[in-house]
Amino acid sequence: MNFDTIIRGGTVHTAERSFAGEVGIRGETIAALGGPGTLPAGPATSIIDATGMDVLPGCLDVHVHLELPFCGTVSCDDFDSGSNAALAGGITTVLDFAIPAAGQTLRDAHEAWLAKAAPKARVDYAWHLAITRDEHLAEVGAMVAMGLPTFKEFMIYESEGWISDDARLFSTLELMRRHDGMLLVHAESSRVLDELIRRHHTPDLMRRHGARLHAVTRPAFIEAEAVERALHWSEVTGGRLYIVHLSTGRAADLVRAAQARGVPALAETCVQYLALDQSVFDGPDAHLFACCPQVKSREDLDRLWSGLDQELSVVSTDTCSFTRDQKAMWWNADGGYGDWTKIPMGLPGLDTMIPLMHTLGVRQGRLTMSDLVRLCAVNPARIMGLWGRKGDIAPGFDADIAIIDSAREVVVRPDALQSRCDWSPYEGMRLSGFSRTTLVRGRVAWDDGRVVAPAGSGRFLPRSAPGRL
Ligand code: URP
Ligand code: ZN
Ligand code: ZN
Repeated sequence: MNFDTIIRGGTVHTAERSFAGEVGIRGETIAALGGPGTLPAGPATSIIDATGMDVLPGCLDVHVHLELPFCGTVSCDDFDSGSNAALAGGITTVLDFAIPAAGQTLRDAHEAWLAKAAPKARVDYAWHLAITRDEHLAEVGAMVAMGLPTFKEFMIYESEGWISDDARLFSTLELMRRHDGMLLVHAESSRVLDELIRRHHTPDLMRRHGARLHAVTRPAFIEAEAVERALHWSEVTGGRLYIVHLSTGRAADLVRAAQARGVPALAETCVQYLALDQSVFDGPDAHLFACCPQVKSREDLDRLWSGLDQELSVVSTDTCSFTRDQKAMWWNADGGYGDWTKIPMGLPGLDTMIPLMHTLGVRQGRLTMSDLVRLCAVNPARIMGLWGRKGDIAPGFDADIAIIDSAREVVVRPDALQSRCDWSPYEGMRLSGFSRTTLVRGRVAWDDGRVVAPAGSGRFLPRSAPGRL
């Protein structure tokens, strides 16, 4: 049995176990696993030495926004720099959100996202389709049949034209049940949020508190109320629900209770809610950290860690990067103060998700390596309809692999990351768990700090129905 590539000498982490062994790759897929020295090399086999390293399934980030028109600008990482950041961070599949522009159908949005991704991507990709108008509901069945079984609705962002009300959430969840799809929901309570913004939007308060008002106007109950409502619509319709970027302990409690009574709901959190707390709003660069939902308290952060692989099945990044110049859009030079409602909302994160999960999770004893693999590879692949191809190191799966040197620590510097963002929320942190070598479908795509894969080598992934855990 000849292999094109054998990865030798490392500790292999699969969905089931961790063991010292080797991985044999033929073409684009994994052909065999074996103990040390058991896979025979032919004359043409290339050997990748992973001695002393951890060999993981390529991870999935199922929540990114690359080149997204948002908040009056466009997020600065596209499928080119976003792929590079993913590869450096051991991520080999990304799921974006195709959001129709005004007047567009879901099919138009799908085609627009294909045009953005296909020439640039170096990792495999797919997207959730954002339902922003009632007319989109008629397309759901056809989109599921095309391999696009996950949809997105926003309970906020009226000014972007993206908001869904309860009637649309309810109707979409009915359709999810009928077509075996899943609805991802950004759950924040828009009317009360608008009211809090209105009360605080005065020159005096803005001058006194600056970007801290972003956090002040989004207390934990803004998320909790909306999560409760979305769970309720999932419960009564039986439609599958997935709460994105869950950021509060209160909402985690609600999801846990709903799951216990059989509501078909899942949730993800994002790495920023596990790594940062609202003290970031004390510093001079507070406005850089504005994201939505914003990072919360230490208590929330601790509660989210304890919910991992319980009610929180997935960790993602919600990458939506804006440079310092873009973030500066909030500054009103004439008035001499900033209007926090004009800060482009979002954070970069693809390079650093796995290193943060490794450093804060595995190294600090909160997670095992298998937990990390489940949260960042196995569960997202299963839930998003990619199981059998992505998320595991097993015969027949795509040979997507991250070889990480767990002993090597790197101090985060934005100019050393692949993201185009000129700042990082994690700047100065000492992190382990960056990928030394990343393979996408059997080909080395990232090696020793260099991008090797050509632009356009990533592939669109039609998906099957969302799976169960
Ligand atoms: O601040 C964020 N998260 N920006 C991206 C859009 C969203 O709500 O996910
Ligand atoms: Zn969101
Ligand atoms: Zn998002």
